Amino acid sequence: MKILVTGGLGFIGSHTVVELQNEGFEVVIIDDLSNSSVTVLEGIKAINGKSPEFEQVDLRDKAAVQQFFAKYADVSGVIHFAASKAVGESVQNPLLYYENNIGALVYILQELQKKDKANFIFSSSCTVYGQAEKMPITEDTAVQPAMSPYGNTKQIGEEIIRDVAAVSAIEAILLRYFNPVGAHESANIGELPLGVPQNLVPFITQAAIGLRDQLSVFGDDYPTPDGTCVRDYIHVVDLAKAHVKALKRLVDKKNADKVEVFNLGTGKGSSVLEVIHAFEKASGKSLNYKIVPRRAGDITEAYADTTKANNVLGWKAELSLDEALASAWKWEQKVRAK
Ligand code: WQD
Repeated sequence: MKILVTGGLGFIGSHTVVELQNEGFEVVIIDDLSNSSVTVLEGIKAINGKSPEFEQVDLRDKAAVQQFFAKYADVSGVIHFAASKAVGESVQNPLLYYENNIGALVYILQELQKKDKANFIFSSSCTVYGQAEKMPITEDTAVQPAMSPYGNTKQIGEEIIRDVAAVSAIEAILLRYFNPVGAHESANIGELPLGVPQNLVPFITQAAIGLRDQLSVFGDDYPTPDGTCVRDYIHVVDLAKAHVKALKRLVDKKNADKVEVFNLGTGKGSSVLEVIHAFEKASGKSLNYKIVPRRAGDITEAYADTTKANNVLGWKAELSLDEALASAWKWEQKVRAK
């Protein structure tokens, strides 16, 4: 059973490859190396001794996608992570996002719909909910008009998959991630943001190691207990394991519908200040941070209702925020020691 993992050298992709291999799946990775490094392959092998096959492919190149599927005709399932994912950049350069995130998805689905059976898992995001009215957020919460082209590509992607699954043999699961953080306990793989990190936790670890002078806290005047935004920070290894559960559900034909949706979070919300203080406790480092004005586009709070993932997918996050922050710090120290 060969599984294609697109974006498999990326943060969530690489952790998912490890968990797939641990469960006996054979993996081939496509990555264009635009936001990752081929050295991640060594990190994966260092963890479980297995080297996935790897092809550097630009998924915006239709002919290259067709050639890949001709060469790997035994691929029976795809976990599609490859996408551009910086909210701010998507506002400045929307067509880059529509070409990469939508174009690539279309070319992959065009190849899968030729098959008698194909399993497809899509990397979606809680961003499709915008600022949900009710917490915790359930999967039947109304999808809000996107607040960025990035978020729009996730919404459009979900709709494209529904339309194609309705008229093909493709069976799909959409996984809506909350906030992935942390790194594999071995510190052989982790998050490697290019340039200045946009996300909170990689900025924290880079500030703690001295790469960044000061952490800006984007607003403390939100209607939350301490005034800072609340998010559901989920350990990336828990997230990776959820993908294996979802794949097995499709392989074993346990899915109830041709397209199923699951929120992947811990079910617990943490504020920015809570994350900062938890990191200080986990690392023993004190963080230099400053409250600055709100960041455009940020929502006040989002955390998942995990009932469906727990009861239907048979998956539950097991690792804590403290463990995630400790693993992120261990990874940062190892990467900088090289
Ligand atoms: C979290 C909180 C910031 C940085 C985005 C995407 C989502 C997913 C995860 C891709 C917010 C605050 C942050 C900083 C801060 N991306 N913050 N100082 O915005 O919840 O989600 O990333 O899959 O789809 O929308 O994550 O980590 O950027 O921010 O105060 O330097 O931390 O304001 O409240 P976000 P984030």
